[in-house]
Amino acid sequence: MDKRTLTFRIFRHNPFDPVSVPRLQEFRVEETPRMTLYTALTRIREEMDPSLQFDFVCRSAVCGSCAMLVNGRPRLACRTRTEPLPDKVTLLPLPFFRLVGDLSVDTGTWFRDMGRRVESWVHQHRAFEPGAEEERMSNEQAQAIYELDRCIECGCCVAACGMAQMSPDFLGSAGMLRIARFLVDPRDHRPEEAVFEVIGTEEGVFGCIGLLACDDFCPKDLPLASRLAYLRRRLALAAMRPSPSTTTGPVPVR
Ligand code: FES
Repeated sequence: MDKRTLTFRIFRHNPFDPVSVPRLQEFRVEETPRMTLYTALTRIREEMDPSLQFDFVCRSAVCGSCAMLVNGRPRLACRTRTEPLPDKVTLLPLPFFRLVGDLSVDTGTWFRDMGRRVESWVHQHRAFEPGAEEERMSNEQAQAIYELDRCIECGCCVAACGMAQMSPDFLGSAGMLRIARFLVDPRDHRPEEAVFEVIGTEEGVFGCIGLLACDDFCPKDLPLASRLAYLRRRLALAAMRPSPSTTTGPVPVR
């Protein structure tokens, strides 16, 4: 098969430079076997333009830093092969997040703020005992937590979400997933009502209009749609109870 020459149209802009103007710059790269977008971008930076900004750390879909829009879709550059892509590829930074430069955005500030809003830590009634033994949990419980703890905070779900673009305070499916993770954790003793205070709002599950692009574009195939539905069911059940519940502790995932 003939080798392809790929044309990359890459967003360039330095928001810290007052004379910088957002634009698309073209680069042509010869495709090599098993090439990824990460490889292509590295070649561009090493051989054509050392000033090109993009992020990466792990090159294996673990750190979440290389997310960008690839022909309009949020994807991880390190795990996107060029073979299935057309000859012309447009690369833009993820929308919604603060632009650092070119393809690099600051996802960390948003994820830290989201973590604070959903109080992303184990809440216990008991005082900390330094000498206490590790608490035991069943394999099923550990697996359920692990499944919901696989988010790499790449921001693809938020970038794909129409609601997040319109409402910057929306917790997004990443925030909802974080809450769902603590609901299945037997060590978390926060009252159900405290959780619903956070997610039972327009910035929480009621803000989601159900387009579920988050679920379509999550590179880790996290169960975003099913966890959103689960939280809605939990809220609906709580609302139907005759008196406010003071139930604490985990509720099995269904
Ligand atoms: S470089 Fe770490 S996820 Fe792509």
